[in-house]
Order: sequence, then C-alpha cells, then structure tokens
Amino acid sequence: MFAFLLVVGVSYYAVATSLIGLVGDYLFADRRSSDQAITEQLAVEIAPLYVNARINDLQTLLVASGGELGGRLMVLDMSGMVQADSFSELVGSLVELPEVASILTDGQTVDYGVHQLGSRQKMTFFSYVTPLNANAQWVGYSTAALTSGGQTVGLLLFSSPIQDVMQNLAKLQGKMWLYFLVTAAVASAIALLLSRIVTKPVATITRSIQRMGRGDLSVRVPVKGSGEMRKLSEAFNVMSEKLEMLDKSRNQFVSNASHELKTPLATMKILLENIIYQPDMDAAVRMDFLSDVNREINRLNMIISDLLTLVSMDSKNMRLKRETIKFAQVVKDVSHRLGMVAERRRQQIKLQISDNCEMYADTAKLTQVVYNIMDNAIKYTPEGGLIRVRLIRMGRDAILTIADNGPGIPQQDLPHIFDRFYRVDKARSRDTGGTGLGLSIVNQLVLMHGGTVSVQSEEGHGTTFTVELPIHQG
Ligand SMILES: Nc1ncnc2c1ncn2[C@@H]1O[C@H](COP(=O)(O)OP(=O)(O)OP(=O)(O)O)[C@@H](O)[C@H]1O
Ligand SMILES: [Mg+2]
Repeated sequence: MFAFLLVVGVSYYAVATSLIGLVGDYLFADRRSSDQAITEQLAVEIAPLYVNARINDLQTLLVASGGELGGRLMVLDMSGMVQADSFSELVGSLVELPEVASILTDGQTVDYGVHQLGSRQKMTFFSYVTPLNANAQWVGYSTAALTSGGQTVGLLLFSSPIQDVMQNLAKLQGKMWLYFLVTAAVASAIALLLSRIVTKPVATITRSIQRMGRGDLSVRVPVKGSGEMRKLSEAFNVMSEKLEMLDKSRNQFVSNASHELKTPLATMKILLENIIYQPDMDAAVRMDFLSDVNREINRLNMIISDLLTLVSMDSKNMRLKRETIKFAQVVKDVSHRLGMVAERRRQQIKLQISDNCEMYADTAKLTQVVYNIMDNAIKYTPEGGLIRVRLIRMGRDAILTIADNGPGIPQQDLPHIFDRFYRVDKARSRDTGGTGLGLSIVNQLVLMHGGTVSVQSEEGHGTTFTVELPIHQG
C-alpha cells in the first residue's frame, strides 16, 4: 500500500512540476520578448553616448527611459562594473549575474533571466520543484551588448519587476498541491477498496486453511462471485469434504478393526480363565478349551493379515507382480484347495472352463480373489448345496462367474457388500468366522487389475458373483 502511494505521489509530483514549468515558460515568453526588444533598442541608442563618454547625457536618458518603463536601467563596462544607474545607487560596484557574464565572457549579444531580487541564481525549469515564494520580490533581467564598430564595449542591464506573473505562478502551484492531495486521497481510497474486494475471499480461504491445519475438517468457504476466485472456493470445498470423509472412514476403520480384534481376545480370555480357575478340570475338556483358544488365535491371525493387506493397498504400496499366467489354472487350483471343505459339507463344485484365458496378471492376487468368493459360496450355502464356477472368454475379457444356490443376499444389503467389515447377518457370520473384509479385498484387487466385480442375488435362491478381467498381454 505504501509503495503504491509512493508511486502515485512521485508521478503526480513530476507531472505537476513539469506542468508549472511549462506554464511559467509560457507566461514569461511574452514578457521576455518585449523586455528584450526594449533593451536591445535602448542599447543601440545608448552605445554612442557611452563610447563618447557622455556620462551625463547617458544618465539623463537612463532615468527618463527607466521611469517610462517602470524598471531600472544600468550600464556596465567590460569588467562588469556599473558606470551609470537610473537609480543612481550602484555606480562603481560590480554586478555578478549570469546574464551579465554571458555577454561579457560568452560573447552573446542578448540574454534574459528571472531572479528573486538579490539572488544570483537564475530560475530554470527545475526551480519549480520547490514551492515559489510569492511574497519575495521577483525581477526579470534583460541584458544587451553595447557595440561600437562590431566590438562589444559594455552592456545595458534592464531589471523589471515581474511580481504579477510570479504571483500567478505561485497560486497555480498552490492549487496543484491541493489537487495532488485530493487525487492521492481518492486514489488510495479506491486502491484500498479494490484490494479489499480482491483479498477478502483469499483471506477467508487462508483462515479456513489455518482452521483445517488445526484439525477442524468441517470448514467450508462460501462460493461467491465468478471466475478464478469461485473455482478456488469450490476446489477448496471439494478438498475439505474429501478430507473429512477420509478422516471419518479412517476412524471408522480403526474402530471396526479394534472391535474385530477384541472379540476373539474376549473369547480366549474366558476360555483361559476357566482353565486357570479350575485346576482339577477334566483333561478332555481342558484339551477342548485349548483347541478353541488355538482356533481363536488362527482367526486373529487371519484378521490381522487381511487388515495388513487392506492397509498396504490403501497406501498404494502394493505393486502387482505381473507375469503371463493361465487364469483357468488359478480357478482350477482354488477349486481343488476348497474341494475338501465342500466335500465335508456335502456340497458339489461344478467347474466349466471354456478358455485358458492366458493373461498378464498377478497370480497370488487373482488366487485370493477366486478364493475369497468361492470361500463365501461354500461358507454361506447350506450342506448339500451346489456351486457352479464358469470361466469364459469374451473378446478381450475373461469372465468368471461363481454361483451358489444358498440363502442369497437381501436387496438392501447388496450395495454395501463390498464395504469393509460389512456382514449381512452379523450373528450368522460370526458362527462361520467371517470378518467382512473378504469382498472388500476382492474389490480392490480386481480394480488393481483394471477389472470389475459385481453381484446378483435373490433371497432364497442363491448368489452369483461375476468378475471381469481385461486380458493384458505382457
Ligand atoms: N455367496 C454368498 N451367499 C450369501 N451371503 C454372502 C455370500 N457372499 C458374501 N455374503 C455376505 O456378504 C458378507 C461379506 O462377505 P465378506 O467375504 O466380505 O466377509 P465375510 O465372509 O463375512 O468375512 P471374511 O471373508 O473377511 O472372512 C458376508 O458376511 C455375508 O453376509
Ligand atoms: Mg468372506
């Protein structure tokens, strides 16, 4: 702000000063030429009197002309000494003025200059930088050479008062100052207003960012105006909304995870306390309790490794180890591994593979995708159920469907089935040991491969999961 005022002030001052200088020059131009013409004319008349040393006649002429012109006339010799003076005061003294010197030493024939009375300093263009003193006495000095036979023999100095012209100039200068102050005040007021308008929204956003920095993610800024400011406000709001959501889901994740870990721990505590406080417990029962503890530990292990998988996927640390694989082989391997579990539940797995589906992908991660979906199908389908696994190739996609004839998933739960920790029937899943992480891992892994996973289900009839994977060639 200060810099702005300085620039405005300096430029205005420069303009005002040059303007006054120009006006001054203009006002003096008339006076200067008439004074000079008079002086030159008189010089011609006086020259013979001076050369012939008719000092008395010279003095009479000077007094008469001076009175007529309303100024003072002096004749100076070549050393600058006054020889005759219409005021009869300065005869015999030296006059040192630039207008005199220019004739005596620089060989000019005429000269003119404006002075404050008593000052040797002649007014120049730059003299207008400082305020003019209107009360001082101002005079114009005209000089003309006295010549005889082409030789300069002395000079005539005419000093005429120019009070009126100077007073006008001083008045003008005073007005310029007033204009300057008014203009500067108006300009700074406008500048202040403009900067307020421009910086206010920025200041609002800055304050909001500071609030966010202190941990308050609920801040939003009003979206006003148009153009870049509006875009900035909108972008800020979108960002803070995303951050808030992220923060909420992270908190939710931590609380869900802790809850999941607490359940097996609580079970183990009860089992172990039983063993501790009943030292004479039957050996077979104790063994039963211990194997339950063992099972809970296995479950804890599984939950933790699922959590670690999710976290490493979130932090984008996980990289796919792609190689050329046959997806059909992955499906067969998983079916084989889960075949025994299905057999125990007297379930039948029907494999139908019509293409090798050779692709460039990560075997371990695709194995986990197929495993999690098939594991669910077996887990949630009652004994004696049928699980149909079908792999086909359609254009540049491999399509895997895993369908069961289990209880199905209620319509209102379908949209959440891929959410972390989401279980349809909390009690039922607990019995089968589910955490609700399996499908969210499936979803992430399929996305990493550039594919999609979807679900269709009808309550009481069964569920079908469909995985579509693009066949990348390495
Ligand atoms: N084939 C299916 N039939 C019926 N319900 C299913 C089926 N697959 C999944 N679900 C439902 O979806 C929920 C989420 O499945 P998900 O695999 O994510 O978790 P989970 O099996 O409970 O636990 P986890 O797989 O982490 O051990 C399950 O709890 C279950 O209620
Ligand atoms: Mg599961």
